[in-house]
Amino acid sequence: MKNLQNKKILLIICGGIAAYKSLELIRIFKKNGCRIKTILTKGAMEFITPLSVSSLSSEKVYTDLFDFKNEAEMDHISLSRWADVVLFAPTTANKIAQLSNGLAVDLATTVALASNKDIFLAPAMNVRMWENAIFKSNLVKLINSNYKIIGPNIGEMACGEYGLGKFSEPQEISLFISDYFNNLDKNKKFKALVTAGPTREYIDPVRFITNRSSGKQGYAIANKLQKSGFETILISGPTNLKFPEGVKIISVNSAEEMHEKTIENLPVDVAIFSAAVADFKTKEIKVDKIKKENFENIKFEKTKDILNYTSKHNKLRPKLVIGFAAETNNLEENSKKKLVEKNCDWIVANDVSNNKIGFDSEHNEVKIFKKNSNEFENISFGTKEMIANELVERISDELNANG
Ligand code: CTP
Repeated sequence: MKNLQNKKILLIICGGIAAYKSLELIRIFKKNGCRIKTILTKGAMEFITPLSVSSLSSEKVYTDLFDFKNEAEMDHISLSRWADVVLFAPTTANKIAQLSNGLAVDLATTVALASNKDIFLAPAMNVRMWENAIFKSNLVKLINSNYKIIGPNIGEMACGEYGLGKFSEPQEISLFISDYFNNLDKNKKFKALVTAGPTREYIDPVRFITNRSSGKQGYAIANKLQKSGFETILISGPTNLKFPEGVKIISVNSAEEMHEKTIENLPVDVAIFSAAVADFKTKEIKVDKIKKENFENIKFEKTKDILNYTSKHNKLRPKLVIGFAAETNNLEENSKKKLVEKNCDWIVANDVSNNKIGFDSEHNEVKIFKKNSNEFENISFGTKEMIANELVERISDELNANG
């Protein structure tokens, strides 16, 4: 597993009988060239000792948030910054409940809350606990917040019962983490550009025309691209969103600025046009505020179509051009038309007549129409992060398949 070489893993061991298996996990990670810092929860220390963990990992073991000596050496923030990934193995139902509620009750949960890294959970518990409805809703909450779940397996448990909930084997866990790094490595060579949010077309210094786009879907895509190893540029209209970390952000106001900045940042391997760009701008932006007694009809002219310009450019066209189609009716017909007319490779279409998805919502549901194909792929209802995950996976597959 050469992808594990020099990777820094923060392993959090929780209190469960499977904790003894994390000793084997440390051994595998070490053998493959990782550095491992470990946090043992209070429960974990009922099963294994800090001494056995530090002997195997050859690193300091952290045991509690209120271990001030360690806090002085490395506090919970630096600990989460140090790591390339955070891995809870084994994770108990109790820890999942704490994490899903954003609690910071010990060092482990505080680190997770403060983390800016991908967090993996390898659960281990009794089958009835795994099937418990409250537990399930906690887990779903974490999945929706981008936590990655490893396993569990089906099998005979320490308690003698049989079913789903068995801790994944250390080999399986290390392979999962290795695959994650492998994905990051394979996308490193690709550059991505995303447009997102609305644009503002000014009428005078205080008034402008805009639309309901929140930018959430585009931001989620840019964030996921960056997390998947892509060098990512986000060209964003005005939004209230937090900029995704590690992404080059270019803030713009108008369609014209968005067009200019997009062209300036080409070429890229993939461009995703998720912005709701104004189709019209005012012919003239008045220098002074228009007084009501001087009101006259506003004259509009068409903006440049950024997607259309980029996809038809004979030198700057990205390998993969993805447009969005926000439709209220005839979704399939309109999307297929846009696919051809705007020379896209894919169109990601959503039905914005449904208030539960699309504009300004946390959720989405999209169909992907592809060039030269009559079929479409459905990405079913989920958070915009989940839609972004699915989309970026497809982008990564497509670019890697075609070199
Ligand atoms: N788009 C763009 N520049 C524009 C207008 C649209 O880059 N000036 C892009 C959008 O980012 C999206 C795609 O074109 O990826 C389709 O946008 P949409 O608003 O659905 O379609 P329009 O072409 O504007 O057509 P209509 O509004 O008539 O449906």
